[in-house]
Amino acid sequence: MKDPRIIVALDFAEHRQAIEFSKKVTPDQCRLKVGKELFTSAGPALVEELTGNGYDVFLDLKFHDIPNTVMKAASAAAKLGVWMLNVHALGGIAMMQAAREGIDIVPQRPFLVAVTILTSMTATDLRALGIDQPLQQVVDQFARNALDSGLDGVVCSAEEASALRSSLGDAALLVTPGIRPEWAAADDQQRIVTPQQALADGASYLVIGRPITQHKDPAQALSLITASISQPGKKQVDDSDFPNR
Ligand code: C5P
Repeated sequence: MKDPRIIVALDFAEHRQAIEFSKKVTPDQCRLKVGKELFTSAGPALVEELTGNGYDVFLDLKFHDIPNTVMKAASAAAKLGVWMLNVHALGGIAMMQAAREGIDIVPQRPFLVAVTILTSMTATDLRALGIDQPLQQVVDQFARNALDSGLDGVVCSAEEASALRSSLGDAALLVTPGIRPEWAAADDQQRIVTPQQALADGASYLVIGRPITQHKDPAQALSLITASISQPGKKQVDDSDFPNR
């Protein structure tokens, strides 16, 4: 069984688009991320279809609620057969421990990771919440809380990967979005890191959406990125490959 590093973000509105995409690539090449929009529209049936077709699914619903509710939601996700799910570290240690308890009901539990501070938030946003410490310190603290609560790792920006790898050690999973090959547009991402750099900085898995999903040949884009992970620095495609841009 291959262990692909790339998790493709299925940022589609509907079941049909997600399934169409999933037929253009293979479970050996990538894992798939189902987020709030797609899950709200397509529901558990889509997740079951994707897992039934052999895909590892990262259910990106960022649970954040009282511990009992999160435990039950995590159990429901585990029973769906997802490969990975996530919670907000801001929900606290008791909530994260409950999430871990929730997934332990299945024999082969999914990975459980925490979002620390959303990368859309700034130090000013934190101060407005009454949190005065530097943002990096808060991220580090939340990541430690996650591991202490029995979680496998965190979702973090690739820019934070190096510092978190040093502070959390080798075993922690670091799942990083904001990844762009040299040939891809930044889209709305502000701080981007190449796949090679993110892995060199300690990322475990790379979440990549539009450079693959909006490419005219998603399988080719995925193969190029996969190849670039082992052949750093090679420019392989250009803008004409993105008809929808
Ligand atoms: O298309 P793109 O590669 O930018 O997609 C990145 C995916 O990662 C999207 O699903 C986005 O919601 C998610 N994400 C992100 N930045 C974060 C956390 C999650 O882009 N800080």
